[in-house]
Amino acid sequence: MEQLATLADLPERYLEHLEQSNLVPLWPSLRNVLPPIKPIPHTQSLVWKYSEIKPLLLEAGELTPIEKAERRVLVLANPGHGLENMRATSVIYLGMQLLLPNEWAPAHRHTPNAVRLIVEGEKAYTTVEGVKCPMEHGDLILTPSGLWHEHGHDGDQPVIWLDVLDLPLVYYMEASFVEGGESQPVKTVENKMSYSAGLVPVQHHIRAEQNYPMLRYPWKDAKQLLIDLSEKQSEGPIQVAYVNPETGEDCQKIIGYSVLMVRSGETVQLQPRSAAMVFHVIEGEAEIKIDGKIFGIDQADTACAPCFSNIDLINKSNRPCFIFIADEAPIQKKLGLYSVRARSE
Ligand SMILES: [Fe+2]
Repeated sequence: MEQLATLADLPERYLEHLEQSNLVPLWPSLRNVLPPIKPIPHTQSLVWKYSEIKPLLLEAGELTPIEKAERRVLVLANPGHGLENMRATSVIYLGMQLLLPNEWAPAHRHTPNAVRLIVEGEKAYTTVEGVKCPMEHGDLILTPSGLWHEHGHDGDQPVIWLDVLDLPLVYYMEASFVEGGESQPVKTVENKMSYSAGLVPVQHHIRAEQNYPMLRYPWKDAKQLLIDLSEKQSEGPIQVAYVNPETGEDCQKIIGYSVLMVRSGETVQLQPRSAAMVFHVIEGEAEIKIDGKIFGIDQADTACAPCFSNIDLINKSNRPCFIFIADEAPIQKKLGLYSVRARSE
């Protein structure tokens, strides 16, 4: 493609006149906003080590009482987007949240969708619209847009979880806001339904009010399914998606969630795709190679890869590695922007 003229090619008086009239010439910026062949992502490949996050998060527990923080979170910020913008990718926000014994994070609801992936600790819970969801290691709990939620902790050790939100996108759309509210009374019917029988309660309270029939996805069920699949399927990646069990669609509308099992000694190569991705190790250890850069990822570490990158997940250990994945595919598919390409080595 031909090189286009720059701002420097235009006379100063002309540029001043444009600015006074709130006008901008397109051609000096055209190759930036419409780059040839593939986007120029701000998202950088990187890993946040849990061993670095945890002591700083525990120190935050000493420095700032929960009443003064509301949510005690260290944001996993990608420097490619500017740390102050608190983005992991252009769509995904990541935060590591700490709740200490007997603390309570008060009820609120907001327009961005959130999920929590529990990293460590026991006996904390999230209440979503009055449905009390226990938080155990590896569980995924949804707090979708507009649903009241709060967090409590009946245990005696700190509980830490990973928050994943579509906040950067919703904020960019000038649609981000929160409402504070009263603690929601716990409903008698909890989120204990099993969809394995192919049956759902016709007048279930959540089903009637919201399009989120399942709010908690226990890790023990996801792990068992992955192990069962790995025993039946000798080749190819073992990956399961978190879906709405009533529709089979992604469990949330903007960000997609799945878990990949990388067997001992296995390398999983992912095809480059138009959506940026986030990886978080639930159990085990691996290496992640993103466009030739290799990072070690241990349990509770979190990595981020930009769009159209070549990604290898390499497990050199003697046990399987289970990696939680968040990606921007659902929103890109809805907008007709999603694509997958052949790998370029
Ligand atoms: Fe929230």
